[in-house]
Amino acid sequence: MDARGVKGITIAIVVAVLVMPFIYHKHLKCNMSAIVNQVCSEYKAGIVSGSLCSDLCEQNSIHLGKCLSTVTDKKIYDGDWKGMQVIVKVNMSWFEEFEKRKNITDNHAVASFEKELQSRVSTLFGDCPRCGELALLLATLGDGNSDGVVIGSEARTFISLLQFIEPTMLMILNDSKHTVDFYGYCGGLYALEKVPKVVSKEFGAHWEPVDISFLSYGDPFQEMLNEFLGGVRNAVIFAMQYCCAVLNDALNLTRYHIFATLFQMLSPSKREKFELAYSMLDATLEISNNPYGLVRQCDGHLGNFGITNNASVKIIDLDLTYPHVFLKTLLEQKKCVSDEECWAGNSEGCFSLCNTSSGFCTPTTVVQGVHIICEVLFPIIFRGPNILEPQGHNTTFLTKAISKLGLFCSKLPVVNSIEDLRREILAVKRRLKTIEIRSSKKC
Ligand SMILES: Nc1ncnc2c1ncn2[C@@H]1O[C@H](COP(=O)(O)OP(=O)(O)O)[C@@H](O)[C@H]1O
Ligand SMILES: *[C@@H]1O[C@H](CO)[C@@H](O)[C@H](O)[C@H]1NC(C)=O
Ligand SMILES: *[C@@H]1O[C@H](CO)[C@@H](O)[C@H](O)[C@H]1NC(C)=O
Ligand SMILES: *[C@@H]1O[C@H](CO)[C@@H](O)[C@H](O)[C@H]1NC(C)=O
Ligand SMILES: *[C@@H]1O[C@H](CO)[C@@H](O)[C@H](O)[C@H]1NC(C)=O
Ligand SMILES: *[C@@H]1O[C@H](CO)[C@@H](O)[C@H](O)[C@H]1NC(C)=O
Ligand SMILES: *[C@@H]1O[C@H](CO)[C@@H](O)[C@H](O)[C@H]1NC(C)=O
Ligand SMILES: *[C@@H]1O[C@H](CO)[C@@H](O)[C@H](O)[C@H]1NC(C)=O
Ligand SMILES: [Mg+2]
Repeated sequence: MDARGVKGITIAIVVAVLVMPFIYHKHLKCNMSAIVNQVCSEYKAGIVSGSLCSDLCEQNSIHLGKCLSTVTDKKIYDGDWKGMQVIVKVNMSWFEEFEKRKNITDNHAVASFEKELQSRVSTLFGDCPRCGELALLLATLGDGNSDGVVIGSEARTFISLLQFIEPTMLMILNDSKHTVDFYGYCGGLYALEKVPKVVSKEFGAHWEPVDISFLSYGDPFQEMLNEFLGGVRNAVIFAMQYCCAVLNDALNLTRYHIFATLFQMLSPSKREKFELAYSMLDATLEISNNPYGLVRQCDGHLGNFGITNNASVKIIDLDLTYPHVFLKTLLEQKKCVSDEECWAGNSEGCFSLCNTSSGFCTPTTVVQGVHIICEVLFPIIFRGPNILEPQGHNTTFLTKAISKLGLFCSKLPVVNSIEDLRREILAVKRRLKTIEIRSSKKC
């Protein structure tokens, strides 16, 4: 074999070694159909149940589409259910929780069920005035086939599902306009509303272009086009930045009118940014504005917010969306020697301080949702000054005003009642409105 042949084989081996783990990993993350088969065979054997089991296992009216999982222990797919776009999720730990509850039989299903529901509700919301109603609501949802009787398989399935924050909070907050609708479950699988846009993709580093309205949402052609245009835009951004560096002509780039126009067409407008900002504030208020108690999103990055067709924001990832009471318990049970150890969810969202004299974290957090949105997420959404904005478009005003708003927000105290929260969020919205009016006058 000549040197080129050896080189070729070496490259092939190196590529295979590098690529195989990815393929294997993808296989582990994207094996939902095997899980559906498992759950459905247990459903047919009368071991598990759920409101969607008939559709999933008998009618075959749920069709899985693309795999969206980011980790192996949680499967996420899109799909359709009777013509509706849905997301189907399952946390693989559900099977362990279910295993632990196999001893719940028909005989004592009702007693175990009621006991477990009450204990779960009080873990989440403490001793809230309307917790009784919540237990009743959950009892209704746990009666998978809605026949008014709870049997062993229903109790086993539903109590196992309630061990997971996301499906539980989705059910509890299903009346909210700002969480995705919960459609139902079968075993540990649950289906929810799919939103047409995810905020991080529209307003983050990699944007997706706006809707082409004559194509319906979910149309594969539209998706292809979006992907294509997204690529074009990223290429334009790259080319522009490259020109900049080479020509040392940063501030004058917008003279290349065609680029500026193309970029403008593909980016969210200022109006859309403000619309998003108001709706994110509404979302953070509305999840707390429920009958049971305040709720916190401890993982509030742009990838966990979606935008519906009428431009309102919905939270799409509730794994770390905790009731205040629950969050407080999580924090105060944590041993610590320094403040860095005191957080729940993700470390930026819900952190508290270390009480070094007790050796435990303090129960109340240092910041809350409105702070994260206003101080961390708004600057990303309103990012600038943008080298690609047309000349005369005063981005410095907007950028400065948003960072001043951040300063205002950083002084807002953490509050513990819905009235105070509403007052704070209203104050932030008013300031944002003033900024919007001023910034539109400037241009
Ligand atoms: N309801 C939804 N509508 C549209 N896309 C969704 C929805 N839920 C999840 N996705 C997509 O799947 C990705 C991962 O979902 P997510 O629930 O945020 O899981 P993770 O725990 O991996 O962050 C999201 O970033 C989003 O692109
Ligand atoms: C799945 O559930 C387990 C156990 O509750 C939890 O530790 C894990 O973080 C969950 N996974 C995701 C992706 O939410
Ligand atoms: C089922 O087993 C668990 C321990 O594995 C026990 O705590 C629980 O009380 C049992 N439930 C019933 C209904 O027997
Ligand atoms: C959740 O709300 C949606 C929209 O209001 C509704 O269609 C759906 O049936 C509700 N889900 C449950 C489980 O009640
Ligand atoms: C932009 O270009 C014009 C001429 O095309 C030049 O006069 C001006 O100084 C440039 N501005 C900057 C900031 O480079
Ligand atoms: C968006 O539409 C939903 C129902 O389709 C409605 O409940 C909600 O109020 C609308 N939001 C806005 C901002 O119009
Ligand atoms: C810290 O812990 C001590 C001892 O348990 C307690 O007396 C004190 O009030 C705590 N301080 C704070 C700020 O929670
Ligand atoms: C842009 O806004 C800044 C800050 O408000 C201001 O000082 C400047 O004069 C404005 N420039 C234009 C061209 O309007
Ligand atoms: Mg997420």
